[in-house]
Amino acid sequence: MDRIYFDNAATTPLLPEVRKAMIEVMDLHYGNPSSIHYFGRNARSIIEENRKLIASHLNCSPSCIIFTSGGTEASNLILSTAIQNHGVQHIITSQIEHPCILNSLKEYTKKGISIDYINVDENHCYDVMHLDELLKKQSKKTMVCLMHVNNEIGSINDLLTIANLSSKYNSLYFADTTQSIGFIPLNTQLCPIDFCIGSAHKFHGPKGVGFAYLKKPSETHPIIYGGGQERGLRSGTENLIGIAGMGAALDYMSKHSDQISQKLVDLNHLFRSQLNLLKVQPEWINKKENSISKILTLRFPNFRNSDLLVLNLDIHGIAVSGGSACSSGAEKSSHVMEYIFPDTNGKIVRFSFSFLNTKDEVENSISVLQKILQ
Ligand SMILES: Cc1ncc(COP(=O)(O)O)c(C=O)c1O
Repeated sequence: MDRIYFDNAATTPLLPEVRKAMIEVMDLHYGNPSSIHYFGRNARSIIEENRKLIASHLNCSPSCIIFTSGGTEASNLILSTAIQNHGVQHIITSQIEHPCILNSLKEYTKKGISIDYINVDENHCYDVMHLDELLKKQSKKTMVCLMHVNNEIGSINDLLTIANLSSKYNSLYFADTTQSIGFIPLNTQLCPIDFCIGSAHKFHGPKGVGFAYLKKPSETHPIIYGGGQERGLRSGTENLIGIAGMGAALDYMSKHSDQISQKLVDLNHLFRSQLNLLKVQPEWINKKENSISKILTLRFPNFRNSDLLVLNLDIHGIAVSGGSACSSGAEKSSHVMEYIFPDTNGKIVRFSFSFLNTKDEVENSISVLQKILQ
């Protein structure tokens, strides 16, 4: 059976170009980047080249980029930095953030950090008027912690407005950009964010590598101590192969951004128009106007729960998600869907595309859906 992978918001396949870059590093540059000899210097230069490359994507100094094991570690590093170094005592976030934010914040509330949750509007975007009100009434040192693109419903939030509002009230802003890096350009000189994060496996790079952007890296509070790598901000021998893969992936995404965007728009459009042909009509969850094309979330009212549909699709060779990857396998449905649709527990399925998917795959999956739903 030919399998179709429509779960690219969970993770993406590695690009051949990325694999090639990683294999080259594996074969040739095996030195420890902290060693001072030839092999070490070679390895070091690969790390610094990739740091520069990522920094150029964000239009920031390379010193603002710290390599991590992924988005989760990067967000933990940022929260620790904001609280320990910047004296943040209050966080404004939302109920639809990734668990790497929400679960860390749960721990910080035990240590006296207070939290406000911003409202989400009918487009599943943050209510910026509410953000203004929350910021206005806050007297404690505050950080706004709101994502750019939601990983479950694909809504794109207005980073610039949130960043400007945050700085208007002298608050820090941490943008979880895990789903947008590689897809939506971000210029940190034009958009005044203090922190953001990236994770290579979301943009066709390897798993287990990512980065944190810190506007003021000298004020970072490490969460991993050891040999003092990453200027003492993140100890542990660097994941050289992963870092090379992440750089190659981001480079590819940016060099081909127009074609990639167009392909994703076309796939999304085709999927939507083909869905209209189904006898049993699903409900659109994300709005076309303010959603990223790679994520299409649907509600199938005739199915008792989404897992059944996810399972049925998988039996027919189509991989989709009934929530975020972090909650799959567990009985619990997605916290995002529970918050947005308190009465539609577990009937929602996320299709997420990559530019490697084809129109045939979309058409085949619609035929399968037709079969399953009849
Ligand atoms: C929005 C968002 N933030 C953070 C993460 C965590 O990234 P990582 O898998 O690299 O830890 C993810 C991954 O699913 C995500 O989608």
